[in-house]
Amino acid sequence: MTFFFKIIIFTTPLLLVLWADGVYSDKKCAARKIEDRSVVCVCNVTYCDEITRERPADGSYIAYTTSKAGSRFLKSSGELETCDSDDLFTTVLTLDPDTKYQTIEGFGGALTDSAAINWKNLSDPQLMQYLIDSYFSSSGLEYNVVRVPIGGTDFSTHGYAYNEEPVNDAELTHFNLTSEDYDLKIPMLKEILKASTASIHVLATTWSPPPWMKSNNAFVGQSYLLPQYYRTYALYYLKFIEMYTKLGVPIWGITTTNEPINGVTGSGQVNSLGWLAADMGKWIVEDLGPLIRNSTFKDIKILCVDDQRPLLLYFFNAMVKEHPESLKYIDGVAVHFYLDALVGPEVFTVITNNYPDKFIMATEGCAGAVLSFGKRVQLGSWERATEYIKDILEDLNYNLVGWIDWNLDLDEYGGPSYTNGNVDSPIIVLPDSGEFIKQPTFYVMGHFSKFLPRGSKRIAVEESIPLSSKSIENVAFVTPDSTTVVVLYNSESREREVKVKLKDQQATLTLEPESMSTIEINA
Ligand SMILES: *[C@@H]1O[C@H](CO)[C@@H](O)[C@H](O)[C@H]1NC(C)=O
Ligand SMILES: *[C@@H]1O[C@H](CO)[C@@H](O)[C@H](O)[C@H]1NC(C)=O
Ligand SMILES: *[C@@H]1O[C@H](CO)[C@@H](O)[C@H](O)[C@H]1NC(C)=O
Ligand SMILES: *[C@@H]1O[C@H](CO)[C@@H](O)[C@H](O)[C@H]1NC(C)=O
Repeated sequence: MTFFFKIIIFTTPLLLVLWADGVYSDKKCAARKIEDRSVVCVCNVTYCDEITRERPADGSYIAYTTSKAGSRFLKSSGELETCDSDDLFTTVLTLDPDTKYQTIEGFGGALTDSAAINWKNLSDPQLMQYLIDSYFSSSGLEYNVVRVPIGGTDFSTHGYAYNEEPVNDAELTHFNLTSEDYDLKIPMLKEILKASTASIHVLATTWSPPPWMKSNNAFVGQSYLLPQYYRTYALYYLKFIEMYTKLGVPIWGITTTNEPINGVTGSGQVNSLGWLAADMGKWIVEDLGPLIRNSTFKDIKILCVDDQRPLLLYFFNAMVKEHPESLKYIDGVAVHFYLDALVGPEVFTVITNNYPDKFIMATEGCAGAVLSFGKRVQLGSWERATEYIKDILEDLNYNLVGWIDWNLDLDEYGGPSYTNGNVDSPIIVLPDSGEFIKQPTFYVMGHFSKFLPRGSKRIAVEESIPLSSKSIENVAFVTPDSTTVVVLYNSESREREVKVKLKDQQATLTLEPESMSTIEINA
């Protein structure tokens, strides 16, 4: 039923006819090969690739593959067979749908000022629509989470916050949004809400409040919140939530401040506010928590930490130790991607085991950030695709409920960023050529976001590998539509044969060299 419903609403009569004939309604990637790298897919005013998620018929599966060699959501399908006995040469993944773990909240990206500036700069309405649809519609990645900055970030054209004037205005009597909200972010959000198939959960985060609330009276650098403005900073969040809601963009959740350690160390050119863990606990317990939970918006999710993995456990534990009551207000813990290489994912297990009612979500990550020492934008980089693949697989296998990418789109230099913090993005806009480009990372995001709708539950997988082969990294879920979805990564430069077993049925697949595949099974 759901399937018919979607077809009728979202596709043209032409596609309906094609579908009735059993032909998939996908539009292929318009591939452009980049030097010695993988391909990018080019969208222009008349053409943009599309991908449809089809429900496999009973007793069959549909597989989608993206590879270094250039496949992008390449579709294949097959019948399930009765399980046979295993041999020594085939990798076998045995799924156990009765052992369940976390429930998916969602996948998405950040609507920074820069993302909206670049989107608007495409100028052509059809091209702008293609970009929105590529991420949010049923013909795209079906993202269902958007992270929205409260005021400016390093991906803005200047440093700013709301109610910068009058200074020392504890009641925020002049709080208003700015032209970045009215002319850029909200118009783009409205288009996103229109195009999306799922309900969009907006996660809002402050990088820096107005300088007068801070010890250094500036946006960037070492700082802390002046004690007389603890309540004011909580009010700053509430006023933002009220205004966005009034303008038709309801807020699902907030994080307690972006990367608080940036403001403690003073390193890096990023708008920030420094927090020691104990002070943050105090602010949550005395100001933010009571204000939000006593408001019309009492059901908003409050996510704490919102900083790099190596700091997560230390910060969370210190906060809870000093202010155990903070647990009463916190729904989850937010983590960023950039220093994941320094600390294993076991830190997540500690939180999950000690606080089973708190969820963990990856709220920011991208390729080409300062620490990667590469070019900020690398068109067609498969290496950067693998950074995403490995990190998302790892996070999901350690009970994270979602993964939010950084800027939805950037220009060819990885900006604009007024602090010159340029990075890479899954979509690069080229307004001069009337095009935007989908990087390999775009498809990686889709291999998860499109096939793991909100409510999907992770299930156990047991892998048996032939001698002298590497693991085929994997994760598996049951979806709310009662299908089983397995995401696989073949890191080897040779084909791999894999059997996926589900109860007494199996699918046998050949994985392309250096590829990822999503397999949806209807057993
Ligand atoms: C747009 O892309 C399509 C597919 O690659 C191509 O056939 C067409 O010529 C392009 N149009 C323009 C104006 O570049
Ligand atoms: C906020 O700014 C907008 C756009 O400049 C303006 O229309 C509106 O009246 C302002 N609201 C308040 C409460 O000042
Ligand atoms: C509501 O505010 C009161 C007074 O500040 C506070 O004692 C109470 O804990 C708050 N309620 C919640 C649910 O936080
Ligand atoms: C829009 O794109 C053009 C062409 O690439 C560029 O020169 C210009 O700086 C861009 N404008 C903004 C506001 O980014």
